[in-house]
Amino acid sequence: RWPRKIFSGIQPTGSMHLGNYLGAVRKWTELQKKRENITISIVDMHSITMPHNPPTLRDNIFTMAATLLACGIDPSHTTLFVQSSVMEHSELNWILNSLTTMPRLAQLPQFKEKSRTVRDVPLGLFVYPVLQAADIMLYKATHVPVGSDQLQHIQLAQHLARAFNARYGDMFPVCNAIIEENDGSRILSLREPSKKMSKSDQNPKGTINLSDSPEQIIEKIKKALTDFTSDISYNPGMRPGVSNLVNIHAQVTGQSIDTVVEEAKQLDTAQYKERVSEAVIEHLRPIREMINKHLNNRNELIYVLEMGSEKARKMAQTTMAEVRQRLGL
Ligand code: ADP
Ligand code: NA
Repeated sequence: RWPRKIFSGIQPTGSMHLGNYLGAVRKWTELQKKRENITISIVDMHSITMPHNPPTLRDNIFTMAATLLACGIDPSHTTLFVQSSVMEHSELNWILNSLTTMPRLAQLPQFKEKSRTVRDVPLGLFVYPVLQAADIMLYKATHVPVGSDQLQHIQLAQHLARAFNARYGDMFPVCNAIIEENDGSRILSLREPSKKMSKSDQNPKGTINLSDSPEQIIEKIKKALTDFTSDISYNPGMRPGVSNLVNIHAQVTGQSIDTVVEEAKQLDTAQYKERVSEAVIEHLRPIREMINKHLNNRNELIYVLEMGSEKARKMAQTTMAEVRQRLGL
């Protein structure tokens, strides 16, 4: 009964990395090609849940916008906007806060993981999955493409939509996650292949950013943690480091895992790392050029984001007018 609508977000905590790109952004561009109704938010309000530097955040927002455009997000088709420019996100967040419980939020794996890294856990870090649900619900999104790390957050969003509908009358679709639950859906840190590649990783050498120079990419892949077996095989459980490289290699070349492994039969790990570097550099070259082109035209970026905010705001305001009425506000 709900028209198909897709929402997804990306934090401007740092620059976009290979995990974001292969696990999320590249899939958004595929959905866009299929003429799906899609809304993408640069979720800066999520980025302030951990300590941050304001001028850096401002730059990161523009870099993220430039990177999304460089990856092929087309603002004439996709609604692309910055979360903080649509204040309804915070308003719906507040309303949803009363529809869930503290124990439920405390058990979310991302919270457990991140809260371990700070001494005094900010309240914002605790409730940010609720803000994420508000992001989705404001646009009455029916489908949310995310990496497998986000599954529990989508389940919370589903729970909040049901809870709202039950208490105040049917008004929100219960969203579906679009997740590819296979080994390849998660790109791991090059330095600690037990963890996912992440912007918030304390060790930036484990993360390949889309804006990295060829030299930086070569250096990072050269130092990627592998194991003491020198041949190349794919076994994520036993050999996470090498398998992560194989997965990255397969994804950037569009080849199957089997083909990649077969062609690497004669190589040792050091030689194979060079091959992976070349493939990654080749794949990212045109994207990196486009990022720089967009960054050199800040006025155009500002214009694109303002147009996106206007479109998003219209939808968000319509939803919030109905929400206020349902709540008796
Ligand atoms: P990060 O954890 O790097 O800050 P975000 O929270 O901004 O990433 O997530 C943006 C999108 O990228 C989400 O859909 C998320 O699931 C996906 N994503 C993040 N890290 C990875 C990864 N290492 N592998 C695959 N997808 C990822
Ligand atoms: Na994240």
